[in-house]
Amino acid sequence: MTTATPSHAPVMPAEVLSLLAPRPDGLYVDCTVGLGGHTEMLLNAGAGRVIGLDRDVNALAHARTRLETFSARVELVHADYRTLPTVLAERNITGIDGALADLGVSSMQLDDAERGFSFRHDGPLDMRMNASAGETLADRLAHVDEGTLADVIYQYGEERHARRIARAIVSARDRQPLARTAELASVVRRAAGGGTWQRLDPATRTFQALRIWINGELDGLDAFLQSTVATLHTGGRLVVIAFHSLEDRIVKHTFRAIAKPADETEPIGRVLTPKPLEPTDAEREENPRSRSAKLRAMERVA
Ligand SMILES: C[S@@+](CC[C@H](N)C(=O)[O-])C[C@H]1O[C@@H](n2cnc3c(N)ncnc32)[C@H](O)[C@@H]1O
Repeated sequence: MTTATPSHAPVMPAEVLSLLAPRPDGLYVDCTVGLGGHTEMLLNAGAGRVIGLDRDVNALAHARTRLETFSARVELVHADYRTLPTVLAERNITGIDGALADLGVSSMQLDDAERGFSFRHDGPLDMRMNASAGETLADRLAHVDEGTLADVIYQYGEERHARRIARAIVSARDRQPLARTAELASVVRRAAGGGTWQRLDPATRTFQALRIWINGELDGLDAFLQSTVATLHTGGRLVVIAFHSLEDRIVKHTFRAIAKPADETEPIGRVLTPKPLEPTDAEREENPRSRSAKLRAMERVA
Protein backbone atom coordinates (compact mmCIF):
# COMPACT_ATOMS: atom_id res chain seq x y z
CA MET A 1 0.00 0.00 0.00
CA THR A 2 1.34 3.42 -0.92
CA THR A 3 -0.16 6.46 0.74
CA ALA A 4 -0.27 9.36 -1.68
CA THR A 5 -0.88 12.11 0.85
CA PRO A 6 0.39 10.99 4.20
CA SER A 7 -1.18 12.74 7.14
CA HIS A 8 1.42 13.71 9.64
CA ALA A 9 0.94 15.85 12.69
CA PRO A 10 4.21 17.12 14.12
CA VAL A 11 5.08 15.63 17.50
CA MET A 12 4.91 17.79 20.69
CA PRO A 13 4.22 20.99 18.72
CA ALA A 14 3.44 23.22 21.71
CA GLU A 15 6.61 22.19 23.54
CA VAL A 16 8.81 22.72 20.45
CA LEU A 17 7.27 26.12 19.82
CA SER A 18 7.62 27.38 23.35
CA LEU A 19 11.26 26.22 23.56
CA LEU A 20 12.34 27.63 20.21
CA ALA A 21 10.21 30.81 20.54
CA PRO A 22 10.87 31.79 16.90
CA ARG A 23 11.56 35.45 16.10
CA PRO A 24 11.16 37.33 12.82
CA ASP A 25 14.88 38.18 12.77
CA GLY A 26 15.91 34.61 13.60
CA LEU A 27 17.44 31.81 11.52
CA TYR A 28 16.40 28.27 12.47
CA VAL A 29 17.47 24.86 11.22
CA ASP A 30 15.05 21.95 11.04
CA CYS A 31 17.57 19.11 10.84
CA THR A 32 14.90 16.52 9.95
CA VAL A 33 12.32 18.43 7.93
CA GLY A 34 10.43 15.24 6.98
CA LEU A 35 6.93 16.17 5.86
CA GLY A 36 7.49 19.78 6.93
CA GLY A 37 5.12 19.80 9.91
CA HIS A 38 7.42 21.43 12.44
CA THR A 39 8.90 23.80 9.88
CA GLU A 40 5.43 24.95 8.86
CA MET A 41 4.59 25.56 12.49
CA LEU A 42 7.77 27.60 13.06
CA LEU A 43 7.13 29.71 9.96
CA ASN A 44 3.50 30.26 10.94
CA ALA A 45 4.70 31.38 14.36
CA GLY A 46 6.92 34.02 12.77
CA ALA A 47 10.35 32.42 12.31
CA GLY A 48 12.29 34.71 9.97
CA ARG A 49 14.02 31.96 8.03
CA VAL A 50 14.26 28.19 8.21
CA ILE A 51 16.78 25.85 6.59
CA GLY A 52 15.30 22.35 6.43
CA LEU A 53 17.44 19.27 5.91
CA ASP A 54 16.47 15.72 5.10
CA ARG A 55 18.32 12.83 3.57
CA ASP A 56 15.15 11.53 1.93
CA VAL A 57 14.32 13.21 -1.39
CA ASN A 58 10.70 12.01 -1.23
CA ALA A 59 10.22 13.73 2.12
CA LEU A 60 11.74 16.94 0.74
CA ALA A 61 9.40 16.87 -2.27
CA HIS A 62 6.45 16.56 0.06
CA ALA A 63 7.72 19.32 2.34
CA ARG A 64 8.35 21.58 -0.67
CA THR A 65 4.69 21.38 -1.68
CA ARG A 66 3.46 21.85 1.86
CA LEU A 67 5.68 24.90 2.40
CA GLU A 68 5.10 26.53 -0.99
CA THR A 69 3.53 29.65 0.48
CA PHE A 70 6.64 30.23 2.60
CA SER A 71 9.15 29.70 -0.23
CA ALA A 72 10.84 33.08 0.38
CA ARG A 73 11.64 32.17 3.98
CA VAL A 74 12.56 28.51 3.72
CA GLU A 75 15.36 26.62 2.03
CA LEU A 76 15.17 22.83 1.75
CA VAL A 77 18.43 20.94 1.41
CA HIS A 78 19.01 17.28 0.58
CA ALA A 79 21.61 16.54 3.21
CA ASP A 80 22.40 14.39 6.18
CA TYR A 81 22.17 16.45 9.37
CA ARG A 82 25.62 15.22 10.32
CA THR A 83 26.90 17.48 7.52
CA LEU A 84 25.19 20.57 8.98
CA PRO A 85 28.50 22.44 9.54
CA THR A 86 29.25 22.12 5.81
CA VAL A 87 25.72 23.16 4.81
CA LEU A 88 26.07 26.31 6.94
CA ALA A 89 29.64 27.07 5.81
CA GLU A 90 28.56 26.85 2.14
CA ARG A 91 26.05 29.62 2.91
CA ASN A 92 28.53 31.69 4.95
CA ILE A 93 26.36 31.22 8.02
CA THR A 94 28.34 31.43 11.25
CA GLY A 95 25.52 31.21 13.79
CA ILE A 96 21.89 30.13 14.09
CA ASP A 97 19.12 31.00 16.55
CA GLY A 98 17.62 27.57 17.05
CA ALA A 99 17.62 24.00 15.78
CA LEU A 100 15.28 21.05 15.91
CA ALA A 101 16.02 17.36 15.35
CA ASP A 102 12.93 15.13 15.30
CA LEU A 103 14.84 11.89 14.94
CA GLY A 104 14.01 8.60 13.32
CA VAL A 105 11.66 7.56 10.61
CA SER A 106 8.67 9.48 9.23
CA SER A 107 5.13 8.21 8.90
CA MET A 108 5.48 8.57 5.13
CA GLN A 109 8.51 6.28 5.07
CA LEU A 110 6.72 3.70 7.23
CA ASP A 111 3.49 3.81 5.28
CA ASP A 112 5.03 3.55 1.81
CA ALA A 113 5.39 -0.20 1.24
CA GLU A 114 7.87 0.39 -1.60
CA ARG A 115 10.42 1.83 0.84
CA GLY A 116 10.60 -1.48 2.67
CA PHE A 117 10.44 -0.17 6.25
CA SER A 118 7.31 -1.90 7.38
CA PHE A 119 6.48 -5.38 8.57
CA ARG A 120 2.81 -4.52 8.08
CA HIS A 121 2.91 -3.85 4.33
CA ASP A 122 4.79 -6.10 1.95
CA GLY A 123 7.51 -4.41 -0.09
CA PRO A 124 11.09 -4.78 -1.27
CA LEU A 125 13.62 -5.17 1.56
CA ASP A 126 15.20 -1.74 1.25
CA MET A 127 14.85 0.43 4.42
CA ARG A 128 17.26 3.15 3.31
CA MET A 129 16.17 6.70 4.21
CA ASN A 130 18.43 7.97 1.45
CA ALA A 131 17.40 5.68 -1.40
CA SER A 132 20.34 6.85 -3.52
CA ALA A 133 23.17 5.74 -1.23
CA GLY A 134 24.38 2.66 0.57
CA GLU A 135 23.29 -0.96 0.65
CA THR A 136 19.67 -2.05 0.81
CA LEU A 137 18.66 -4.35 3.64
CA ALA A 138 18.35 -7.22 1.13
CA ASP A 139 21.98 -6.67 0.01
CA ARG A 140 23.23 -6.43 3.58
CA LEU A 141 21.35 -9.54 4.72
CA ALA A 142 22.80 -11.51 1.81
CA HIS A 143 26.32 -11.39 3.26
CA VAL A 144 26.11 -10.56 6.99
CA ASP A 145 27.40 -13.22 9.38
CA GLU A 146 25.12 -14.62 12.05
CA GLY A 147 27.07 -13.21 15.02
CA THR A 148 27.04 -9.65 13.69
CA LEU A 149 23.34 -9.91 12.90
CA ALA A 150 22.55 -11.21 16.38
CA ASP A 151 24.51 -8.31 17.93
CA VAL A 152 22.63 -5.77 15.78
CA ILE A 153 19.24 -7.20 16.75
CA TYR A 154 20.19 -7.42 20.41
CA GLN A 155 21.77 -3.97 20.72
CA TYR A 156 19.57 -1.87 18.44
CA GLY A 157 16.34 -3.79 19.03
CA GLU A 158 16.87 -4.68 22.70
CA GLU A 159 15.43 -8.02 21.58
CA ARG A 160 16.09 -10.90 23.96
CA HIS A 161 15.50 -13.53 21.27
CA ALA A 162 18.19 -11.97 19.07
CA ARG A 163 20.32 -15.13 18.68
CA ARG A 164 17.34 -17.27 17.69
CA ILE A 165 16.10 -14.67 15.24
CA ALA A 166 19.55 -14.16 13.67
CA ARG A 167 19.94 -17.92 13.22
CA ALA A 168 16.53 -18.15 11.53
CA ILE A 169 17.26 -15.23 9.19
CA VAL A 170 20.63 -16.65 8.17
CA SER A 171 19.26 -20.11 7.55
CA ALA A 172 16.34 -18.68 5.51
CA ARG A 173 18.68 -16.55 3.39
CA ASP A 174 21.04 -19.52 2.86
CA ARG A 175 18.12 -21.42 1.31
CA GLN A 176 16.98 -18.50 -0.83
CA PRO A 177 17.85 -14.75 -0.81
CA LEU A 178 15.37 -12.68 1.24
CA ALA A 179 13.81 -10.04 -0.96
CA ARG A 180 10.50 -8.92 0.63
CA THR A 181 9.54 -7.43 3.99
CA ALA A 182 6.68 -9.95 4.40
CA GLU A 183 9.10 -12.88 4.02
CA LEU A 184 11.48 -11.42 6.60
CA ALA A 185 8.63 -10.58 8.98
CA SER A 186 7.32 -14.13 8.88
CA VAL A 187 10.79 -15.63 9.50
CA VAL A 188 11.24 -13.25 12.46
CA ARG A 189 7.78 -13.89 13.90
CA ARG A 190 8.27 -17.64 13.75
CA ALA A 191 11.65 -17.41 15.47
CA ALA A 192 10.59 -14.87 18.10
CA GLY A 193 7.52 -16.88 19.02
CA GLY A 194 4.93 -15.48 21.39
CA GLY A 195 1.19 -15.45 21.15
CA THR A 196 -1.32 -13.14 19.53
CA TRP A 197 -2.01 -11.64 22.98
CA GLN A 198 1.25 -9.68 22.77
CA ARG A 199 0.95 -5.92 22.59
CA LEU A 200 3.84 -5.61 20.16
CA ASP A 201 4.11 -7.47 16.88
CA PRO A 202 7.03 -9.91 17.47
CA ALA A 203 8.79 -8.41 14.41
CA THR A 204 8.76 -4.84 15.81
CA ARG A 205 12.08 -4.86 17.65
CA THR A 206 13.96 -6.65 14.90
CA PHE A 207 12.68 -4.29 12.21
CA GLN A 208 13.66 -1.29 14.38
CA ALA A 209 17.14 -2.77 14.86
CA LEU A 210 17.65 -3.41 11.15
CA ARG A 211 16.50 0.10 10.28
CA ILE A 212 18.92 1.69 12.76
CA TRP A 213 21.71 -0.51 11.37
CA ILE A 214 21.04 0.16 7.67
CA ASN A 215 20.79 3.91 8.22
CA GLY A 216 23.60 4.20 10.79
CA GLU A 217 21.13 6.16 12.90
CA LEU A 218 23.20 6.30 16.06
CA ASP A 219 26.55 6.89 14.37
CA GLY A 220 27.81 10.41 14.83
CA LEU A 221 24.70 11.55 16.72
CA ASP A 222 26.84 12.84 19.62
CA ALA A 223 29.20 14.79 17.34
CA PHE A 224 26.20 16.28 15.54
CA LEU A 225 24.64 17.44 18.83
CA GLN A 226 27.93 18.97 20.00
CA SER A 227 28.61 20.85 16.78
CA THR A 228 25.01 22.10 16.60
CA VAL A 229 25.10 23.54 20.13
CA ALA A 230 28.40 25.20 19.19
CA THR A 231 26.71 26.82 16.18
CA LEU A 232 23.94 28.43 18.25
CA HIS A 233 24.03 32.11 19.12
CA THR A 234 23.93 32.82 22.86
CA GLY A 235 20.40 32.07 24.08
CA GLY A 236 19.72 29.89 21.02
CA ARG A 237 18.26 26.44 21.66
CA LEU A 238 18.58 22.92 20.32
CA VAL A 239 15.50 20.73 20.71
CA VAL A 240 15.79 16.99 20.11
CA ILE A 241 12.96 14.47 19.99
CA ALA A 242 13.98 10.80 20.28
CA PHE A 243 11.77 7.77 19.82
CA HIS A 244 13.71 4.94 21.40
CA SER A 245 15.80 4.55 24.49
CA LEU A 246 19.16 4.09 22.72
CA GLU A 247 18.80 7.38 20.90
CA ASP A 248 17.48 9.19 23.96
CA ARG A 249 20.39 7.88 26.03
CA ILE A 250 22.90 9.38 23.58
CA VAL A 251 21.08 12.73 23.67
CA LYS A 252 20.97 12.71 27.48
CA HIS A 253 24.67 11.85 27.89
CA THR A 254 25.86 14.25 25.22
CA PHE A 255 23.84 17.13 26.68
CA ARG A 256 25.23 16.33 30.15
CA ALA A 257 28.79 16.24 28.80
CA ILE A 258 28.30 19.62 27.10
CA ALA A 259 26.87 21.17 30.29
CA LYS A 260 29.64 19.65 32.47
CA PRO A 261 32.82 19.28 30.43
CA ALA A 262 35.17 16.63 31.84
CA ASP A 263 38.16 18.98 31.58
CA GLU A 264 36.39 21.59 33.75
CA THR A 265 36.44 24.20 30.97
CA GLU A 266 33.51 26.63 30.83
CA PRO A 267 30.43 24.86 29.40
CA ILE A 268 28.92 26.24 26.20
CA GLY A 269 25.41 25.05 26.98
CA ARG A 270 22.95 24.36 29.77
CA VAL A 271 20.33 21.64 29.89
CA LEU A 272 16.75 22.97 29.93
CA THR A 273 15.15 19.58 30.53
CA PRO A 274 16.64 17.73 33.54
CA LYS A 275 13.96 15.15 32.79
CA PRO A 276 12.79 14.67 29.20
CA LEU A 277 9.41 16.13 28.26
CA GLU A 278 6.85 13.62 27.04
CA PRO A 279 3.61 13.99 25.08
CA THR A 280 0.41 14.58 27.00
CA ASP A 281 -2.13 11.75 27.20
CA ALA A 282 -4.33 13.68 24.79
CA GLU A 283 -1.55 13.91 22.20
CA ARG A 284 -0.68 10.23 22.61
CA GLU A 285 -4.27 9.36 21.89
CA GLU A 286 -4.62 11.69 18.91
CA ASN A 287 -1.22 10.97 17.39
CA PRO A 288 -0.06 7.43 18.16
CA ARG A 289 3.34 8.14 16.55
CA SER A 290 4.06 10.46 19.47
CA ARG A 291 3.67 7.68 22.05
CA SER A 292 7.34 6.96 22.74
CA ALA A 293 8.66 10.52 22.16
CA LYS A 294 11.13 12.04 24.60
CA LEU A 295 12.08 15.66 24.12
CA ARG A 296 15.28 17.21 25.47
CA ALA A 297 16.52 20.75 24.99
CA MET A 298 19.72 22.67 25.53
CA GLU A 299 20.46 26.41 25.48
CA ARG A 300 23.69 28.00 24.33
CA VAL A 301 25.34 30.13 27.00
CA ALA A 302 27.88 32.90 26.51
C1 LIG B 1 10.28 11.94 12.34
S1 LIG B 1 10.59 12.50 10.73
C2 LIG B 1 10.48 14.24 10.84
C3 LIG B 1 9.08 14.78 10.76
C4 LIG B 1 8.99 16.30 10.76
N1 LIG B 1 9.46 16.87 11.99
C5 LIG B 1 7.61 16.79 10.46
O1 LIG B 1 7.03 17.51 11.28
O2 LIG B 1 7.07 16.45 9.39
C6 LIG B 1 12.29 12.24 10.60
C7 LIG B 1 12.91 12.61 9.27
O3 LIG B 1 14.32 12.68 9.50
C8 LIG B 1 14.99 12.23 8.36
N2 LIG B 1 16.32 11.82 8.78
C9 LIG B 1 16.64 10.78 9.57
N3 LIG B 1 17.97 10.74 9.75
C10 LIG B 1 18.49 11.80 9.08
C11 LIG B 1 19.80 12.30 8.90
N4 LIG B 1 20.87 11.70 9.45
N5 LIG B 1 19.96 13.43 8.19
C12 LIG B 1 18.88 14.06 7.63
N6 LIG B 1 17.62 13.62 7.75
C13 LIG B 1 17.43 12.50 8.46
C14 LIG B 1 14.12 11.11 7.84
O4 LIG B 1 14.36 10.91 6.47
C15 LIG B 1 12.71 11.63 8.15
O5 LIG B 1 12.15 12.28 7.04
